[in-house]
Amino acid sequence: MNVIFEGNTRKMRAVWYENGQVILVDQRKLPARLELFSAKNSNDVAFAIKDMVVRGAPAIGITAAWGLAMAKQNGEDMENAVSVIGGTRPTAYDLFKAISYMKKNDFSLEAARRYSQEITNRCKKIGEFGDTLIPQKASILTHCNAGALAVVEWGTALAPMRIAHNSGKDLFVYVDETRPRLQGAKLTAWELQNEGIPHAVIADNAAGLYMHSGKVDLAIVGADRIASNGDFANKIGTYEKAVVAHENGIPFYVAAPASTFDFSIRSGEEIPIEERDQSEVLTIGNTRIAPEESEARNPAFDVTPAKYVSAFITEYGIFKPQELKNLRAMIQKDIFMRED
Ligand code: MRU
Repeated sequence: MNVIFEGNTRKMRAVWYENGQVILVDQRKLPARLELFSAKNSNDVAFAIKDMVVRGAPAIGITAAWGLAMAKQNGEDMENAVSVIGGTRPTAYDLFKAISYMKKNDFSLEAARRYSQEITNRCKKIGEFGDTLIPQKASILTHCNAGALAVVEWGTALAPMRIAHNSGKDLFVYVDETRPRLQGAKLTAWELQNEGIPHAVIADNAAGLYMHSGKVDLAIVGADRIASNGDFANKIGTYEKAVVAHENGIPFYVAAPASTFDFSIRSGEEIPIEERDQSEVLTIGNTRIAPEESEARNPAFDVTPAKYVSAFITEYGIFKPQELKNLRAMIQKDIFMRED
């Protein structure tokens, strides 16, 4: 099994292709159980993305890439496969980036392998650049899960922390629990625990207290889609954390590969926000916590304005929001990433 902890580097793959199937670590079951989910056709892949067997923007993209290559191998109607997989989660830009890459490359297995490997390697670079922003001793706040489970191997927001920790820096990570799906408490804490990185899970509502009382030196989060002006969508609650960080003079970094940047839109106003089922808010596990008659609202993401971002950590380096034009020019010269 291809899952977990390769040698000392403790890298983990959340998605891979084996014997004609897309294999996923079933993230719905963690941390209680490490189970695998096998997708045999494009409907299975769409279900896995929609139901969050796999989640996190880059991992969704990689799953889509393997899913489309598998559909082609199966002889499926590719127009239908693209539509079923593309109709799963509207906010994560990586999904659409992966689909467009696979279309250009005739849905070949080789293209899916390349897509997966490229994104993985790029996240390692994000880790190396991000590490330069982390002091020798630091307390870091993060929201949701932007680790190996969300990317395959390195993660985005967690990649700099991994590299900093492995190089001997003294880190402590405040992990927002991330209601309603609890990606922080369940997934980020699990990854940090596996790596031996000191951390504490905090209720989402506690982040303000720790930031105001000087306990947090910097925040690093991932992103689901970044607009040309630097506004970005990430897990619901990110916006609040960015505002409080700004208010308290705490650097707030966004770590993401080029596949998350959507230069076809000007600002965050154009980012579609996924609304998920009410039950995610009204229940915890299988227990209903609100009165039977109560409704819920459940936006999965919010948009943080660029003015709250200290810098974007990318595989090309570190860019302030006003420098994104330079990033865009670099992406245009990058054969793998550029939009034709
Ligand atoms: O709903 P999810 O769990 O897919 O949301 C994930 C996030 O918001 C992550 O922060 C983002 O995708 C970046 S993952 C490297």
